[in-house]
Amino acid sequence: MVVADCPNEEPAADLLRQALDDIGQREMSFTTRVISEQAEAERTGFIGSPTVLVDGRDLFAEPGRQPGLTCRIYRTEGGLAGLPALGRLRQALKSAAGGSADDGRQEELAEAQRAHWQQTYSTHSGLYGQTPSAPARHAATVFRAADAKDVLELGAGHGRDALYFAREGFTVLATDFSATGLDQLRTAAHEHGVAERVTTTVHDVCDPLPLADASVDAVFAHMLLCMALSTKEIHAAVGEVRRVLRPGGVFVYTVRHTGDAHYGAGTAHGDDIFEHGGFAVHFFPRHLVDDLADGWTLDEVHAFEEGDLPRRLWRITQTLPR
Ligand SMILES: C[S@@+](CC[C@H](N)C(=O)[O-])C[C@H]1O[C@@H](n2cnc3c(N)ncnc32)[C@H](O)[C@@H]1O
Repeated sequence: MVVADCPNEEPAADLLRQALDDIGQREMSFTTRVISEQAEAERTGFIGSPTVLVDGRDLFAEPGRQPGLTCRIYRTEGGLAGLPALGRLRQALKSAAGGSADDGRQEELAEAQRAHWQQTYSTHSGLYGQTPSAPARHAATVFRAADAKDVLELGAGHGRDALYFAREGFTVLATDFSATGLDQLRTAAHEHGVAERVTTTVHDVCDPLPLADASVDAVFAHMLLCMALSTKEIHAAVGEVRRVLRPGGVFVYTVRHTGDAHYGAGTAHGDDIFEHGGFAVHFFPRHLVDDLADGWTLDEVHAFEEGDLPRRLWRITQTLPR
């Protein structure tokens, strides 16, 4: 519901469409109703424009607010806004569709992690330095051997590895849910003279990839799948990787595992996810690696360490059958 000439009518419709698509409700349609009289606002309980209703119930009900023909303000991580945050809208839609309390908690954790990474990249620009990671060097060799030309990197952050792939001659699409990290990546790509081979897209790996089926040669993800994702979301993400890879395409990813010193430390969020120092990590048990390789050729599971802690990781290489 909106008031006439509400500047947020169209953005709200776009946001609602995106949220419905993201939660798999692509077939679901909605209508926009213009509220033009105070009596109508009172009859419908309309407390501001835009308001989203499901089965007649305000998704963001604010008990005690007086109905009226006014603009509506939503609290978001970034401050007050004229629209709800996409994550909250997804969560509210899921709950309205009968989602469980667990779904709600997982969504809250995801929102907090998104804000945490944005903040981290803002205060520590170029956090991981400019030197490529060891897994990226390995992946470049594997990708070249598979005759790959383009690489999709998921969770690229500020792009130490995406820049390396570009310098090595690959065309790179780098994604991350932190726009700040990707801004730093684009700036560095210009400085390194590889901007024409690097594209960035803000993307949450829990959402479907904005790419056609069988459209990329290789996919790389260093320490992304072990972020605050549920086992179900990890399976869905790897399903998306499988969908967009060409037959014979290679997927190289790394994850922290249950042999890591931080496994079991800090706040437990269930599903082998533990939060330590504000960062939530899903520590992989070995059977999850095997489950994710179902229908693929599992070429290698290589154990290695990174950093001072050290983080204990597996580097997994798996290939799609031709
Ligand atoms: C441990 S960092 C690794 C960054 C990069 N791969 C590297 O090694 O330099 C994890 C990255 O995943 C991103 N991330 C975490 N959860 C994500 C999600 N649900 N969707 C997309 N990116 C996510 C973070 O913003 C961060 O850039």
